[in-house]
Amino acid sequence: MTTFSAPAKIILYGEHAVVYGQPALAAPVESLRAFAEVHPQRSGSGLRLLAVDTGHDLPVDLAAEVDDALVEMAQRTLRFLGAAPPSAVVEVYSKIPLASGLGSGAAVSAALGRALAWACGVELAPIDLNALVYEVERRHHGTPSGIDNTVIVYDQPILFRSREDFTPLALGAPLTILIGDTGIRAPTRESVGDVRRLLERDRDMTLSTIEAIGAVVEQACVALSNGDLEMAGILMQKNHALLRQLTVSSPELDRLVDTALEAGALGAKLSGGGRGGNMIALVTPRMWETVADRLRGAGAVHVWKTTVA
Ligand code: PMV
Repeated sequence: MTTFSAPAKIILYGEHAVVYGQPALAAPVESLRAFAEVHPQRSGSGLRLLAVDTGHDLPVDLAAEVDDALVEMAQRTLRFLGAAPPSAVVEVYSKIPLASGLGSGAAVSAALGRALAWACGVELAPIDLNALVYEVERRHHGTPSGIDNTVIVYDQPILFRSREDFTPLALGAPLTILIGDTGIRAPTRESVGDVRRLLERDRDMTLSTIEAIGAVVEQACVALSNGDLEMAGILMQKNHALLRQLTVSSPELDRLVDTALEAGALGAKLSGGGRGGNMIALVTPRMWETVADRLRGAGAVHVWKTTVA
């Protein structure tokens, strides 16, 4: 058995505005991962995917029309590689909560793509894996910007401007971040759709909010590369206020953000699609436990600590 994985991700600044061409900053969460385990079988037995978390047992037939993201990723990968389905069972499982803004779908696809390339005995370059994961995300999530698949496949903090233009983010100081989960599942497709409707209804106001988020991201780039954590925190708060204007926050997210700030966090905001899912708080290594306790007390069903370096 050989295991492949891919991390969860958080968006540090710039979600939603990135769908409209603004830049955004994202980072992998190394401790939260999706896995794909290859169990080779005797020749001629074909390929099966075992989705451990849902109990689904999915045979992969290249010719079949399917509406399943895992099978679709397998089909796309094999077609791209020009390979027949290998004789193997691939067990797929994830420690990343679903539909909570942490990129679980893209991480599962990335782990599976790596596993299948290995099972076929061929190399799959990150640029190609990234494109394959994006296609699956597109089918299942509407109009993704491509930031999720990119940060997950390249597994490093990035400044994302477009699918063709992204660069590693060099930090002047490591970031200690808490991720607080509201426990509310909220499909990104819906919040992205609502922002689009807001834009149609009130174009000027919405466009200026989107541009203001882009400006926050540019300032955050400077603050992070200078290691100016205080400014990075202030900019997170600004970003959260702008996301509220885009209507993608929720009472639960606002409560966790306010709680983190009251407990001494340098900054806090929702992260990802919003409405539910997760928020992040920028903390110092000294105070993180206090903030984490307060987040749990305010209703966070999970709190993870991660370091972005
Ligand atoms: O998949 P999520 O919930 O982390 O959202 C990704 C960020 C969005 O900007 C809301 C959507 C996108 O495609 O960039």
